[in-house]
Amino acid sequence: MSTTIRAVAPGRVNLIGDHTDYMGGLVLPMAIDLHTTVIGVRGGDRIRLTSAQDAEPLDLVLPVGDPALVTPAWGRYVAGVAAELDAITVAEGRNGVDGFTGTVSSTVPPGSGLSSSAALELAVALALGMDASAVELATRCQRAELAATGVPCGIMDQLCSAAGVAGHALLIDCTTLEVTPVPDPTDLTVWVIDSGQPRTLDGSAYAERRAECEAAAALIGPLPSAPAEHIELLDDELHRRRARHVRSECDRVRAFAAALAADDAERAGELMLESHASLRDDFEVSTPTLDALVERLAARPGVLGARLTGAGFGGSVVALTSPDVDLTDAGAGGRRVVASAGAFVEDVTDSP
Ligand code: GLA
Repeated sequence: MSTTIRAVAPGRVNLIGDHTDYMGGLVLPMAIDLHTTVIGVRGGDRIRLTSAQDAEPLDLVLPVGDPALVTPAWGRYVAGVAAELDAITVAEGRNGVDGFTGTVSSTVPPGSGLSSSAALELAVALALGMDASAVELATRCQRAELAATGVPCGIMDQLCSAAGVAGHALLIDCTTLEVTPVPDPTDLTVWVIDSGQPRTLDGSAYAERRAECEAAAALIGPLPSAPAEHIELLDDELHRRRARHVRSECDRVRAFAAALAADDAERAGELMLESHASLRDDFEVSTPTLDALVERLAARPGVLGARLTGAGFGGSVVALTSPDVDLTDAGAGGRRVVASAGAFVEDVTDSP
């Protein structure tokens, strides 16, 4: 009898620390109770997956060619991961990645800034048999995303999905890739509110922002630790603003973690609002829809803080509230999320 594999990977919400990961800065995301699941059987010379979300199945002949050319579009992430795994197996003197036949389904809404693509990459990597540390899994899946979409994303989403800890957010230093679980404040609730404005990173100015930060860093060194006086010396006003965001956002991540540890919910909420303002004004990745939603949320009783989460340009807002608050009616719909464990794979051959 062949072994049936089930691989599950969570999406994530970032509490604070956006557009810092690709500059080696600090982030504080948590894996959430929305997941992508791949179930099936390994073997054969192709990857065949049907999707609960898309009528068009994926039928990928191995070894894969250019992942960016695969259809349906979600299959590009699968192909990117398969190409990574193929490279590992060949380097180890084996014959390349095995095929897989199964299904993929997800409760992570695509285009909402909750890392549906990272969840898919991690679930596929584990389903296909990638056996590695959380950091290596995440690094490989980050490379897969670049091959699939051409977007030079950072490591946050993949590492959060791989290393999630139930009941904890993760403080990640994106230079050392050290992950420190930070206990969830038990007396607070995290909400994710859909702005109703979808976004994809390949249609956004994400790569442009990253290039602007790299240009600034080439002049003054690593932005997460750049002294304010060096930032102010940058000639280009745009570079100054981008660098100011990265530096101040890393400081806010540290302060937010300290506020949680000190049970200072009010300070944590203020830092979220400051983060949103910096992403809006200095980094210019917000939109009028996101700004209006954050403003409306901040005015509601019991809401401590709110900010765009992830790349911006649409997607979702994250809010921190006292437990009695109900945001289900906010924006295009709010959902309470809970910090979840990271991606895992199991043999479910005998399961009912
Ligand atoms: C996207 C990317 C991440 C990160 C965020 C912004 O989610 O995939 O690597 O850069 O945007 O913080």
